[in-house]
Amino acid sequence: MKNLSLSQRISVYLFLVICISTFILNSAFFVVLRSQSEDEFKVQTDEILSNISRYYQIPIWNLDFNAISEVTDNWLQTRSGVLAINITDEVGGAIIQKTKGNQEFTGLSKQPHTLLRKGKIIHDERQHIGNIEVLFSNAERVEQNNLTYMKSILVSLLFALLVGLVSNHLLTLFVHRPLRNLIEGTQSAHNSNYTIRVPENAPGEIGILAAEFNKTMNQIEDRDRKLHQHNVELEEIIRVRNLELDKQRATMINSSRLASLGEFSAGMSHEINNPLAVIIGKASILRNFVSKGKIPTEFEIHFIKITEMCDRISKIIKNLRNFARDGSNDPFDYFDINRFFSDIGELTRLKLDKKAIVFKFNNSTNVKQIYGKEIPLSQVIINLINNSADAIESLPEKWVELTVDEDEKYVFFRLKDSGNGIPDDIQKKMMTPFFTTKVIGKGTGLGLSISKGIIEEHKGELTYNGESYNTEFIIKLPKV
Ligand SMILES: Nc1ncnc2c1ncn2[C@@H]1O[C@H](COP(=O)(O)OP(=O)(O)OP(=O)(O)O)[C@@H](O)[C@H]1O
Ligand SMILES: [Mg+2]
Repeated sequence: MKNLSLSQRISVYLFLVICISTFILNSAFFVVLRSQSEDEFKVQTDEILSNISRYYQIPIWNLDFNAISEVTDNWLQTRSGVLAINITDEVGGAIIQKTKGNQEFTGLSKQPHTLLRKGKIIHDERQHIGNIEVLFSNAERVEQNNLTYMKSILVSLLFALLVGLVSNHLLTLFVHRPLRNLIEGTQSAHNSNYTIRVPENAPGEIGILAAEFNKTMNQIEDRDRKLHQHNVELEEIIRVRNLELDKQRATMINSSRLASLGEFSAGMSHEINNPLAVIIGKASILRNFVSKGKIPTEFEIHFIKITEMCDRISKIIKNLRNFARDGSNDPFDYFDINRFFSDIGELTRLKLDKKAIVFKFNNSTNVKQIYGKEIPLSQVIINLINNSADAIESLPEKWVELTVDEDEKYVFFRLKDSGNGIPDDIQKKMMTPFFTTKVIGKGTGLGLSISKGIIEEHKGELTYNGESYNTEFIIKLPKV
């Protein structure tokens, strides 16, 4: 019983209730039927007894024993309910006693369902000429009643079984299955699956419950979706804020790095410029001596070289001071493109020469001037050249090529090196602040992110050209 479903239990209970109630009803009916049948039996035996006694009037009056015996046999054979007949005279003297199948009279009278009826044999309606005893059997009728009782019990059982089966089928259809669906739905909701829905076609309260369940699931799913959406938005806000914070940090670090470099180069240029001025002065005195013939003329070329080198040193120092300046607050202005690139060349030449990197410069455009902040833009290009120099220093072929291009609206600076491109995973992250593949102390991971910021401030774009076989970055600046 424990493992039965609700509908099966109800069906079993229904079956039992119908069985018990029909059994009680049948039994009560049977009791009534039996008492009725006994009454009827008595009435019938009365009639038969008076009938039989009439047949004995004449034979007993005539003391015709043959006729008495014939009548007796006749009654015993024709009447199935008559078991025995005993005839005595008016004072009780035996005349005839016969039983069915010649059994003993007293033995027969002790059998169940027998009834002994006694009567008088009257001649001419007045004279008592004898007594009659007839033993009747009610067994056949009782047996029939019992059979009827058993049949009706059997029919009741079949009816109860049918009701049980039909009710089980209906309950399974309208109660068990919808409830099962609801249980499964609730269980999957426990496991955080809110996509499940149950059929709402069950009748009555279960249908309403299913509809309410679906409504609740809809609401939970909707709330989940909104929550998820909210989370995604929050994550995006945090990501953007973190990026901004990183950018700000990067700019601050870059500014302070430039500030200390600026300070250092200002001090250094002061220290170098003084002895440099002395050397230049002395070289010019020595050239004067050559022109006056005090020193042989073959030395003049050396003094000229000394002066040229000193000029170069002072130019480099001036450029370095310039470059090391934080020009982010400089105003936008036009500047000469040729001087811009020659200054960059001066500043990078030493590093490139040291690493035996060939530098190529192509400018086939007619662009003479650029509008923007010269110092930050030169910092961008020097950053790119430094990156290239770091990337290709151990390659067998080492070159860096800077090409200037233009279209109607833009000027392009293409910086290509002999490297074979940047792997996808690095490409995706290299423009974000503090991303570096260099060893600690060598790179801060700020070069590209700062450069991108500077170019975007000029309403331009700094992109990596994934189409190029060699590593190539492109700066696109609007012509103003
Ligand atoms: N020309 C290039 N060839 C190959 N990889 C490059 C090139 N330029 C940049 N990268 C990759 O991009 C990364 C980020 O460059 P970025 O200039 O922002 O930082 P960094 O050079 O590592 O450090 P920093 O410039 O602050 O000294 C580099 O570490 C390198 O892995
Ligand atoms: Mg760099």
